[in-house]
Amino acid sequence: EKGGYAWFMQKEIAEQPRALADTLLGRVDESGRLSLDEMRLSDDELREIDKIVVIACGTAYHAGLVAKYAIEHWTRIPCEVELASEFRYRDPILDRQTLVVAVSQSGETMDLLMALRHAREQGSRVLAICNTNGSTIPRESDAVLYTHAGPEVAVASTKGFLTQLVACYLVALYLGQVRGTKWGDEVTAVVRDLAAMPEKVEKVLEAMEPVRELARSLVDARSVLFLGRHVGYPVALEGALKLKELAYIHAEGFAAGELKHGPIALIEDGLPVIVVAPSPRGRSLLHDKVVSNIQEVRARGARTIVIAEEGDEAVVPYADHLVRVPASPVLLQPLLTTVPLQEFACELAAAKGFDVDQPRNLAKSVTVE
Ligand code: M6R
Repeated sequence: EKGGYAWFMQKEIAEQPRALADTLLGRVDESGRLSLDEMRLSDDELREIDKIVVIACGTAYHAGLVAKYAIEHWTRIPCEVELASEFRYRDPILDRQTLVVAVSQSGETMDLLMALRHAREQGSRVLAICNTNGSTIPRESDAVLYTHAGPEVAVASTKGFLTQLVACYLVALYLGQVRGTKWGDEVTAVVRDLAAMPEKVEKVLEAMEPVRELARSLVDARSVLFLGRHVGYPVALEGALKLKELAYIHAEGFAAGELKHGPIALIEDGLPVIVVAPSPRGRSLLHDKVVSNIQEVRARGARTIVIAEEGDEAVVPYADHLVRVPASPVLLQPLLTTVPLQEFACELAAAKGFDVDQPRNLAKSVTVE
């Protein structure tokens, strides 16, 4: 049932191109426009929304952090992202014009369920993004957009995460289309870009042997830092979470711009620092800044592992290890840059002899608050 892989996690990482394609399937009409009829929210209801709040836990929360960039860019609706476990304890401001997006692979996470119940009590409409048909969270929501990742067995979420990203992009684009923001017209082009992503993920997967080798060389690491900016920041957080939960190594993700405000003090000789480099196109200012960050940590002794787009030559002199991903539109880059971090954590945990699919102290779905 593991399809020749030693671990479900490896199988699920490999299934990601398929899972992405399945999640896009049937959601684009012949003219290249999105149709999300299954969502059960009318266009009028969607036009009334003046605020979006994404709530989720763990990896799904990281998908929510990426969603914020996409939602605000494509819809111009203000968007907040919050950990579901914190949400209802701070008396959040919610009303009928607020769309709450609840993201969950399992559909059974208790923290999220309690948060969405709270949102509905305040009159907000809740849209669930979920991978499990008929589970509690979509049943208790006003609307649902299913991800089609197929069953995810490993405790560490992989294809669940990538398909959540796709669902978030679809929601953002659909809202842009319905509300006719300036991006509405561009939906077709972005949908085309999205359709090209499964093949690009496949390319990333084909080039993973050096990442696995690197992971095996780091079994004795005590701590690993992850840096990113813009949508690369949630990817850094996700990479760190994977390493914590699977390899039990202290790992932290930072927004690279925050380095000088504190974390740079942690850099010491030999410390592995994984950097998610932003696309050199589009927001090149940001790219230059991250290149400086790589230079800064390396000058202080860090061993730099850089994930960068093909053709990004500026990072080459400062990367002790370079992992290439295909070029992609800025907002879609997390679909590619996350994959090496999943492989890295999986291989490192396996090399340490740990149970990759069932890490200690963790459960696949967390049904208590
Ligand atoms: O089923 P959910 O998406 O609601 O689960 C949320 C988190 O518990 C989950 O993502 C957890 O962080 C994973 N173990 C991450 O790999």
